[in-house]
Amino acid sequence: GSSESSSSSNGESNSESSSSSGIQEMTIKISHVVAENTPKNKAAEAMAKHIEENSNGKIKVQVYPNGQLFDDKTEVKNLQANNVQFIMPDMSKMVGMNPAFNVPSLPFVFSTNEAAYKFWDGEKGQEILKSLKSEGIIGLRMWPNGPKQITNTKRPINSPDDLEGLKLRVQGGQVLASIFKNLNAGPLQLPFGQLYTALEQGTVDGQVNTFSNIATKKLGDVQKYITTNWGAARVDYALLTNQKFWNSLNEETKKVVQAGIDHGTKKARELAEKLNQEAFETIKKRGKMEIHELTPEERKVFQKALQPVYEEFKDEVGADVIKAAKAASA
Ligand code: LMR
Repeated sequence: GSSESSSSSNGESNSESSSSSGIQEMTIKISHVVAENTPKNKAAEAMAKHIEENSNGKIKVQVYPNGQLFDDKTEVKNLQANNVQFIMPDMSKMVGMNPAFNVPSLPFVFSTNEAAYKFWDGEKGQEILKSLKSEGIIGLRMWPNGPKQITNTKRPINSPDDLEGLKLRVQGGQVLASIFKNLNAGPLQLPFGQLYTALEQGTVDGQVNTFSNIATKKLGDVQKYITTNWGAARVDYALLTNQKFWNSLNEETKKVVQAGIDHGTKKARELAEKLNQEAFETIKKRGKMEIHELTPEERKVFQKALQPVYEEFKDEVGADVIKAAKAASA
């Protein structure tokens, strides 16, 4: 509504104003790029249902998975334009707006999902999520997926040497690219929607991802080897909304939407590990990929090889950010 006049003393209110009471009627769209049976989609559906059920039939929430509505490249712009009200991109795709979104790719930075929550719910994490205001975007919560495994068509990967010369698709971010440069592999950034075809056609030899994304997109049909227990980098999401939408909500509506966000966040965090474990079982059962589980000693070799990445990005990501991220695992 417009600011026609200052509010009168007779208690009249403009029913269209965002300051009036009553839940506003609206349709909310949520868009993301991954499959249905994933932590991100299950959490988005839980959030949608919670909002609808608590809105007295006023709010409809539509969830669009699989990049149906927007892909990696277009979802942020469409969020800014308020064509979609919530997205939850992989943070490594948000580094253009703030390099601190490289945090989930800092080598072995979080020992557990809980450590990642501690960081993103804490002071530094919140500062990063709230840093997009000048772009018209509000970062709300961190939703997890989990640690990355390595898949490829060429050979089993048990050591940094095995990666030499391989071309690998990466999600985004300077830190993830640097990980593979440090391991003498060639990183190539491609949107998630192009991943399967890129692997099938041999544009790249391999990629890194969670069990969940590997299984739900059936990457085993086009990848021969998988290395598990790697986890040098993670897939974690930033739940984002836009300011135009957020500021249009009156208090009562915002309460319902906020409760949905809290519920969705809880679901995401409950489901991430479970769905990734199930996805690993699915991969084993399908029997298409040869599985190589890194031993703790083999993992240490990767840890050592990737130490220089911290020095390289100390300034760009921020020494204070890195310190807080490391402290979350302590
Ligand atoms: C990827 O592009 O591999 C992932 O970031 C997709 C996702 O959203 O989990």
